[in-house]
Formats: sequence, C-alpha cells, structure tokens
Amino acid sequence: MQLLTSKNLIDSGIPKLKQRCEKLILSGTTPLLKVLLVGNHSPSLIYTRNKKIFAQKIGAKCDIIHLSSDISEKDFLAKLEQCSNDNSVHGILVQLPLPEHLIHLTKKIAHLIPAHKDVDGFHPNNLFSLLQGDKGHDSLIPCTPKGILSLMEFYKIPITGQDIVVIGRSLIVGKPLSQLLEHYNATLTLCHLHTKDIKRFTKEADIIIIAAGAPRFFGAEYFRNDQSQYVIDVGINKDQTDKLCGDVDFINVKEMVKGITPVPGGVGPMTIFSLIQNLLLAAEKSV
Ligand code: GUN
Repeated sequence: MQLLTSKNLIDSGIPKLKQRCEKLILSGTTPLLKVLLVGNHSPSLIYTRNKKIFAQKIGAKCDIIHLSSDISEKDFLAKLEQCSNDNSVHGILVQLPLPEHLIHLTKKIAHLIPAHKDVDGFHPNNLFSLLQGDKGHDSLIPCTPKGILSLMEFYKIPITGQDIVVIGRSLIVGKPLSQLLEHYNATLTLCHLHTKDIKRFTKEADIIIIAAGAPRFFGAEYFRNDQSQYVIDVGINKDQTDKLCGDVDFINVKEMVKGITPVPGGVGPMTIFSLIQNLLLAAEKSV
C-alpha cells in the first residue's frame, strides 16, 4: 500500500511558489489575500489561520477580517464590497459556513466577489470555464479538486480511461471534481445520499474519491481486497473522542488498497496549497 501524503509535494512545490511571489514583489505587486471570517466556528478558525500561515510562508500577505457572529447582513456585504473595490487586494474568500442568519448569502457571495479575485473558484464565470474544459492552469478553479488533481499527478496515478467514483455532490468538491476528472478522460460516477447501493459502484471502481462528511463510514466492505484500488479521502471530521478522522475507516481499509490518502496529511493541506496557487495566478493576471 502506498500512503498518498501531501507533505513531499508541498515541500517540493514551495520554492516555485516563493519564486513566483518574489517576482511579483520585485515588479511592485505584493499578493494580498483577504479572508472574511464571520463568527467562531472552530474548524474555520483553524482553516483560516492555516491559510494565513501558508500565504506568509511563501512571502504573500493575508489579512483575516474576523467579523462578529452577529454582524448584520448590510455590514457584512459592505465589508465584502470594500475588498472587491480595493485594487491592492488580489484574492478574496469568505470562509464557509456562514452563521445561520447569513447562510442565505452563500450563493449570492459567489456572484459578489469579482471573478478575477475569486480564489475559491466559485464565481459562475470561473465554474463555467471549468465546465468548458479549463484545467486550472490559467484559470481559478475550486481549490480542493485542484489539490486532488495535483496529488494524483504527483503520485502518477493514471486517470485517462479509469473508472472513478466520486462520493458527494457539493459545489465545493464533488461537482467540480467530477468535471475536472472528466476533462482528464476518466469515466465518472457521482454517488450521493440517494444512491441505491454505493458498494456496487465502489467495488468496481479503479479510484474512489470520498467527500461525504461521514466519519470513518466507508469500511472494508466498500472496497476490493486485491490492492488494486486508489482511495482518496476528502473528509475532515472529528470522532467521538475529538480525534481528526476522514470518511474512510483507514485502519481497516489501508492494507486492502493500492494507495490511500491519510487524514490528516492527505487532501486537507492540498486545498491550502491550491488556494495559494490561485492567489498567485490572480496576482499575476492583475499586472
Ligand atoms: N469551508 C470549508 N472549505 C472551504 C473552502 O474551500 N472555501 C471556503 N471559502 N470555505 C470553506
């Protein structure tokens, strides 16, 4: 079994990111990311802090605008507009989920952040360019799918002609990831909560990518026991003892498969890596 960790990829990719950032700074542009964080959702506090640490590590700037959990819709939208109109800002993201009273804005935000600053890749123009076949080399595509592709390329996991099952149909992961993999000539099956028998699909697949948000739900019964499948676990959950875990029952599955991503240390850090790639792309396009 091959453990598909992201550390080596990220460590080897950092010098290139630093170089791109340095080039921008020398030409008078310091890449700047604004992260709008509303309230104190604890995973979001950790994710946004990690985004800032990584941005600073490569020489970019990241401001976390930490807004009170009871901020009014009007004040929140005014903050967002301020960032959108600020020419020194290259990337904007609103950390999700928003608190209950603002949750209805989640879809609207995708339109409000200008497409060229949309480092999350959620703007309709950016999603449409993904639909048209853009692979994210020159466009802003969602970070987790982009990171998963980078990880698959790094480990030379074949994609063309492979049967890939994606579990979960979110706009952040499942939907854009399915599109992206299709552009790389995979045959896709998208499973979700209403799929009659997920095992029927996962057992037959070459690659299974799981973004279901179900702690350790996918056990040995979902996979073949012939060390021929790759499993990519996008889940980031806490178990009953507050321990971080994925959607896959890692301990019982790992020896059955050809390769598997660990949680933590697999897909999670790739999302941040891709975000910073998107920030640099946005900044490069602004000059
Ligand atoms: N919350 C969890 N994942 C994400 C993400 O990729 N982008 C944003 N904006 N919020 C998130």
